[in-house]
Amino acid sequence: MSKFCVTPLKIGKFSFKTNLIQAPLAGISCAPFRELIWSFGAIAYGCTEMQSASQIAQGGQRAQRYIHRGAQEACLCWQLSGNQPEYLAQASEIAAQSNADLLDLNCGCPMPKIRQKGCGSKLLSKASQLGKLIQAMKHASGLPVTIKIRVDSYSGDNNNYDVARMAEDSGADALVVHGRHWTEHYQTPCRLEDIAEIVQAVNIPVIGNGDITDYQSLATMLATTGCQGVMIGRASIGKPWLFKALTCADRGITFPTPTPDKIGTLLWRHICGLAKLELEHIAVLQMRRLIKYYAATLPTYKVLQTAANQCTSLHGLQTLIQQYFGAIADSILLMN
Ligand SMILES: Cc1cc2nc3c(=O)[nH]c(=O)nc-3n(C[C@H](O)[C@H](O)[C@H](O)COP(=O)(O)O)c2cc1C
Repeated sequence: MSKFCVTPLKIGKFSFKTNLIQAPLAGISCAPFRELIWSFGAIAYGCTEMQSASQIAQGGQRAQRYIHRGAQEACLCWQLSGNQPEYLAQASEIAAQSNADLLDLNCGCPMPKIRQKGCGSKLLSKASQLGKLIQAMKHASGLPVTIKIRVDSYSGDNNNYDVARMAEDSGADALVVHGRHWTEHYQTPCRLEDIAEIVQAVNIPVIGNGDITDYQSLATMLATTGCQGVMIGRASIGKPWLFKALTCADRGITFPTPTPDKIGTLLWRHICGLAKLELEHIAVLQMRRLIKYYAATLPTYKVLQTAANQCTSLHGLQTLIQQYFGAIADSILLMN
């Protein structure tokens, strides 16, 4: 019997068949990444990386990676960063007229340059202001709005309850909770008990996030917190099949781990997708960072990484993939 998705995850007007969600990942979760995940299915929706509401509202030039939505993406959430209701409202309206199905407000980013602007995790210390931001986003867009927060009990801030209640009272349709304080790095395990407290405090769905890598960690998150949905970030990089594999595990079905040539094909599709959005040298630089995730199971991955770091063209990357992963099956995508 299924241990997750016993009841459909409802966020605003959406009723999803699964409760697994792909997390926003700056520098990574653009359309080519999300489309690979959609090719396996098994997610409720995917998220863009964080985007500045003021930049969108002011009509600044935005790279294609922020704008493009792939044909396979059934449901897309734009994550916005901002702290001014007017900009968030304008950006939300633009998102709704563009290709967003849901919106999320980033209230978790720990980066100093974001906090200094009063955005990201800084918003958590101003629960009353948060309400205005959520209302502005909802009103301007007509879309379901979620907020992505961090936990804070260990820090003594004790804003979690106020933030969660304020979000619900202001019309947020769900809360995404990353179980770490904004000062904590990934070495600190997630505080599932904090997520559980937030689940108890609100009537809207809570999506638990942090440290889910396999079926065991997924089951622990669900059982310990009682959350209605789960968001996964890092573990899905280079493993677009992860959500499908978790769904199969839940149903007692064996999901065959893709063979190296299949993984090579996925990597090549990712590269080709980036190359359509970016200049070739930018796509190559991005791929140098991503290749280690796809190559994680190859015994030769360190040699491959060294070779990729010296690679300056798509053609060079294609040759490397063929050499290290075997043939690329998807000949349609091959460039000559
Ligand atoms: C490279 C990277 C980029 C990230 N970018 C964002 C972002 O743009 N917005 C956001 O809310 N969280 C961002 N996060 C945090 C993740 O969405 C997630 O909350 C965190 O990694 C914990 O989940 P995980 O253990 O499943 O990775 C980022 C994390 C990483 C590693």
